[in-house]
Amino acid sequence: MSGWKRAVSEVRADVCAARDRDPAAQGVSTVEILSSWAGVQALLAHRAAHALLRAGVPVAPRVIAYVTRVVTGVEIHPAAVIGREFFIDHGAGVVIGETAVVGDRVTLYQGVTLGGTGFQRGKRHPTLGDDVTVGSGAKLLGPIAIGDGAKVGANTVVVEDVPPGATVVGNPGHLVRVEGRRVEGPDADWIHLPDPIAEAIKSLSGRLADVERRLAELDGNGAAGEGQAEISPRTGRSPAGG
Ligand SMILES: CC(C)(COP(=O)(O)OP(=O)(O)OC[C@H]1O[C@@H](n2cnc3c(N)ncnc32)[C@H](O)[C@@H]1OP(=O)(O)O)[C@@H](O)C(=O)NCCC(=O)NCCS
Repeated sequence: MSGWKRAVSEVRADVCAARDRDPAAQGVSTVEILSSWAGVQALLAHRAAHALLRAGVPVAPRVIAYVTRVVTGVEIHPAAVIGREFFIDHGAGVVIGETAVVGDRVTLYQGVTLGGTGFQRGKRHPTLGDDVTVGSGAKLLGPIAIGDGAKVGANTVVVEDVPPGATVVGNPGHLVRVEGRRVEGPDADWIHLPDPIAEAIKSLSGRLADVERRLAELDGNGAAGEGQAEISPRTGRSPAGG
């Protein structure tokens, strides 16, 4: 296939990816998507910058990446390798580092970072397999591998490899599903962690009730809580308005 035909087919695949994966893009024309979907614009600009970099053209790849960042809020290093049908939803705040590798049909939401952990050289950014989804605000750091079909929850921080078909959430990211099945084991529940402050208040409240009951008995006032006003939620208009 000639270079021109390949470029047209890639653009078509990238626009189709936006239409398939963004419910807001259903029924929207190709011209409208190209002119107003920041994630699609950033991707197409990256494809041009990457091709120029590989052809050995100086300066232009970085200038394209810089202008794209200013216009779309998405920063993709020209050397990053991006697969087919990539889609960045909403665009803003996405950063993809120099040695990152992204497979086919990957979806990133806004605020995702595929970054390094410090000042290392060489391969220092993540490698994402095919069909990976990364939720908004997630940070994937270091030369880690994210397996095919994996899902990374919004705001998750991932610093270790993720197996194929797994879902990771939290900071640091923990496995909560593999191939759709809940992860079993004593240390597997990283979502429903106890709330130590709520536990402390509950314990104090119990002890206070006990003290009040004993005081009432000493005073000869009868049953606990007798003569005390019951605390109940106020009804009526919210003082906050609305
Ligand atoms: C992680 C995600 C991809 C769902 O993956 P999934 O494999 O279908 O997982 P589930 O929905 O079954 O969730 C698995 C568990 O993780 C929890 N969970 C899901 N996302 C989470 C998150 N971001 N942070 C913490 N916990 C999360 C769920 O509550 C569920 O808990 P449970 O075990 O008590 O049932 C999805 O929740 C997510 O974060 N998507 C990103 C969407 C986004 O960024 N949208 C922005 C639009 S502008």
